[in-house]
Amino acid sequence: MTSKKIRELFLDFFKQRGHAIVPSSSLISDDPSVLFTTAGMQQFKPYYLGEKSPYGKNVVSIQKCFRTSDIDAVGDESHLTFFEMLGNFSFGGYFKEKAIEYAYEFLAKKLKLKIGYVSVFDGDKENNIPPDEESEKIWEKIDGDIEIRKAGKKDNFWGPTGEEGPCGPTTEIYINGIEIWNIVFNEYYKDKNGKFTKLKTPGVDTGMGLERLAMAAQNKPTIFETDLFTDMAVDELGQPLIPDELPFRAKRVTLDHARGIAFLIADGVFPSNKDAGYVLRRLMRRIITYEQIANNPSFDVKKIFHRVTQKYGEFYPDLDFADTSRLFDEEDVKFTAALKQGLKEMDKAEFIDADIAFDFYQSYGLPYEIIKELGKEKAKKLTREDFDEKFKKHQEISRAGLDKKFGGHGLKEDGEITGASDDEKQKLIRLHTATHLLHQALADLFGNEIKQMGSDINPERLRFDFPFERKLTAEEIVKLETIVNQKIKENLPVRFEEKSKEEAVSEGAMAFFKTKYPDRVKVYSIGPSTSSGQAYSKEICNGPHVRNTAEIGRFKIIKEESVSAGVRRIKAVVEEKPNELS
Ligand code: SER
Repeated sequence: MTSKKIRELFLDFFKQRGHAIVPSSSLISDDPSVLFTTAGMQQFKPYYLGEKSPYGKNVVSIQKCFRTSDIDAVGDESHLTFFEMLGNFSFGGYFKEKAIEYAYEFLAKKLKLKIGYVSVFDGDKENNIPPDEESEKIWEKIDGDIEIRKAGKKDNFWGPTGEEGPCGPTTEIYINGIEIWNIVFNEYYKDKNGKFTKLKTPGVDTGMGLERLAMAAQNKPTIFETDLFTDMAVDELGQPLIPDELPFRAKRVTLDHARGIAFLIADGVFPSNKDAGYVLRRLMRRIITYEQIANNPSFDVKKIFHRVTQKYGEFYPDLDFADTSRLFDEEDVKFTAALKQGLKEMDKAEFIDADIAFDFYQSYGLPYEIIKELGKEKAKKLTREDFDEKFKKHQEISRAGLDKKFGGHGLKEDGEITGASDDEKQKLIRLHTATHLLHQALADLFGNEIKQMGSDINPERLRFDFPFERKLTAEEIVKLETIVNQKIKENLPVRFEEKSKEEAVSEGAMAFFKTKYPDRVKVYSIGPSTSSGQAYSKEICNGPHVRNTAEIGRFKIIKEESVSAGVRRIKAVVEEKPNELS
């Protein structure tokens, strides 16, 4: 059974049982306390807490996920950085009985797989959370032959993602000793102080790795032997793209990282020294190192990127082979000379501890994984924890002198500018104000129901997602550019006022509907222009922004595309020389 078939069967199964199909959200999380989307439930977090779900109570998705926590395990039979998670969710719809029945029916009846055993939660005295006897009884009723194992909070309790959120006991399904499906019953809310309170309406959150399910359904010993990877590892003629002489672990890491790189770039990440950008850089540098070691001209990771785009483009149209290759080449050029030098130095070193490893990182850009892998015996005592400790200390020191907190790949929703030089910082601010103008221009053109679904700004471009059913025409794109450029020419002042959320909303300030705002918010207004006396745009936002629209420069849309059904994405840039316009 192909992975494509598995996707279809899963979505159909839950669609037939009253679930709305919801597209994957970005790998870059909306929640500022986490770097990546690590689970399917993340985009639904508010709906477990009482906010009304626009999709209804029961939904199903295939979510892109990225977990740095598993980076050291990549290369074994079942761990990855990037993966896809199949999940069904209920926000006050069905609960334990239905959720377990669905899972059993899908795996045992639909896919005809043999469940090895299941596990249930046996309670946590410390936090006064009782054992999940209900799930145990449901399993017994469904199939008396299934072995039920019990475990505590460490194994059978999930969440929350980030600093706080919904969480609860799990029941997990194992096939051939590997966890296939995690079924979470969100019954609790864990707050920032670690306190658990019962949720008013409990919910269901399930997650099943597509790769692991494919491994079971295709009866393969590892995820790397499923079609999700085998198609990527060969060219169109079936010739292997990774040379044989590379150790098997490096081969698997190459496949995992190549996929991760392509998907991170598709979501607007670019290599940097901080946060998501740093993770992307680590993935790239590890692969570049393998290319160096293999020293085989036919080994070109870009061919694998091409295969990733071919294999996954159908499901994720944002994947862009040209973007991926360009950013990879740029990193390659930056890194290769330093890498050669670094490898020589590593050869000379007698031993490598965290201090020396961090030195290699700083001087030559060698990431931890490379040092550990190539240092072999010399780096035996080196641990990720010690290295991260050095890294964190260094970041704290370099941060101390700066007025803003730095650390990331661009402008975050909380107004924090991260990882940018002064020039880049200025660019981000200009793009940010341009984003507000674009938002309003879309509303001018298509009406106020145009809401921002996602925004991402890096020093190169802005990206804006909004609900719209069709491709924009060339005329509409020109119109949008003209409106924005007109507002830029008008030299409109940009100001903010702090007010209550209610007041902001009642005076029509635009908001990002997926964000939960605090009670007091900042409302940024652009205008008033002298003619109307009204602000042109008003939007709840943390800033920062330019003081006057003339600072933005010429605005240009470079891409308009589909993200998923009913969602369009605009990428736009601002020209470097703002003064020419005024
Ligand atoms: N949130 C759970 C997980 O990530 C189930 O979806 O495993």
